[in-house]
Amino acid sequence: MEWTPPYDPQQYNLLPLLASQNRTADWFTTDDGDPYGRPNIARYSAHQASKVIPFRYQTAVAERPEVRDWVTGLATAAFAEQERRNAPVASVTRGPSLLLLGPTGVGKTYEAYGAVRELAVTGAFARWTVVTAADLYAALRPRHGVDSEAEFKRYVNAGALLIDDLGASKVSEFTEDVNFRLINRRYEDQLPTLITSNVLPKELSARVGDRVGSRLNEMCTRVVITGTDRRRSVAA
Ligand SMILES: Nc1ncnc2c1ncn2[C@@H]1O[C@H](COP(=O)(O)OP(=O)(O)O)[C@@H](O)[C@H]1O
Ligand SMILES: [Mg+2]
Repeated sequence: MEWTPPYDPQQYNLLPLLASQNRTADWFTTDDGDPYGRPNIARYSAHQASKVIPFRYQTAVAERPEVRDWVTGLATAAFAEQERRNAPVASVTRGPSLLLLGPTGVGKTYEAYGAVRELAVTGAFARWTVVTAADLYAALRPRHGVDSEAEFKRYVNAGALLIDDLGASKVSEFTEDVNFRLINRRYEDQLPTLITSNVLPKELSARVGDRVGSRLNEMCTRVVITGTDRRRSVAA
């Protein structure tokens, strides 16, 4: 793990995330030179997270208690496993997934990136891959000169995977196949996956297929976000 010199947690709006995890700014900026220490993992992870998070969501803070509980659960499991194996670093490897459902604009993507950011400051290390479902299908579409199986592995084997807007694209045999192969593998290996979708809960299975819907039901904590489209209430 790379030594990441202490920086001001306000730089990434990390103070509310640290508070939610009962950590202080002093803990975050612990300057003990230990690259495996949790404060360093937190600094390194928060910095890494900022590289995969779109600009709009760089300061996101999850508000839903179920989302924050999911983060805490993953970190707690990683710390327990670290202790059990006497490992230098607590890594997020296996655990439950999270499904955020709700109409367009209620804040699903915001909550999702808030979760990515909060997990970072726990001091448990997660290797995130983030993608929208639409970009995922585009990346995997068979085409000349691209090894789409290698590309597929990138998502299947991601330590933690965020799939944004599942079920929003037009359904085809190809998208169904990608959904099933990806979700099934993540389901079987119990790899933490964070999924957002604007499909109504009762329509999810119809949208993504029964086999995917059934697996999502078992592997995910489901959070339904209600409210109005925040994009509409922004002053023009
Ligand atoms: N809790 C929040 N606090 C501040 N801004 C928010 C919050 N939730 C969402 N937003 C903002 O509202 C807009 C819509 O949120 P977004 O997460 O993109 O919606 P969805 O993914 O559900 O379509 C974005 O500009 C986002 O930054
Ligand atoms: Mg979104």
